[in-house]
Amino acid sequence: MKETYRKGIIHTNTEISPNIYELVLEGDFHGRPGQFYMLRGWEELDPFLPRPISIADIDSGKIKFLYEVRGRGTHIISKLKKGHSLSLLGPLGNGFDVKVEGKIALITGGIGIAPMLYLAKQLLGEVHIYSGFRNNAYFLDQIRPYVKAVNIATENGSVGHKGFVTDLFDPKDFDLVYACGPIPMLELVINMCKGITPVYVSMENHMACGIGACLGCTIQTIRGMERVCKEGPVFKGEEVVLND
Ligand code: FES
Repeated sequence: MKETYRKGIIHTNTEISPNIYELVLEGDFHGRPGQFYMLRGWEELDPFLPRPISIADIDSGKIKFLYEVRGRGTHIISKLKKGHSLSLLGPLGNGFDVKVEGKIALITGGIGIAPMLYLAKQLLGEVHIYSGFRNNAYFLDQIRPYVKAVNIATENGSVGHKGFVTDLFDPKDFDLVYACGPIPMLELVINMCKGITPVYVSMENHMACGIGACLGCTIQTIRGMERVCKEGPVFKGEEVVLND
């Protein structure tokens, strides 16, 4: 893959929940579920780093991203309107296995729901999604047509179960688990699945280059330190060395 930035033209950039945006760009983009692009919506040197954002869907000449406004870079991107252009590098990372059969659980926390639409569309098995949010559920209306069951938890109980999404899920019910979300949730899911069900997790870390050059995104695995942007972001649960 040639690692140069290219332009994408904004089709829509919509706030679908407080601080959560759905960005759709026009262009011939490609990638697998779980891969990401580095996005840059500004020309100046400040903020210096582009932002890594997961592919949420690719369909009919458009690519969709879901992102949370967390800092200056995503704040700048959130202000861009239809017709503006963004610079993109990708697709990057390994991504999830698709075309998988059997009974599959997708476990998400917050913005970790981002890759699950594109993934659910390409899985062949019976897919159940378990999504946890702080207070507002989002994006599930788009995923619902591609899954057998939707299970929701919110910390304040405003939608679905009051508590954590892991309260709802039993690994014994599934042949395979995919998870994406905050690290403490992923650690809990890995521990719950240990010895019961294979689990793949999409790990998060700070990223500077996104292409394996800066070593700023490494995590501890059973093979040693590995780069989330290059060997990941998807790892087998048993490969990740958890904090005690
Ligand atoms: Fe630079 Fe991963 S972000 S090596």
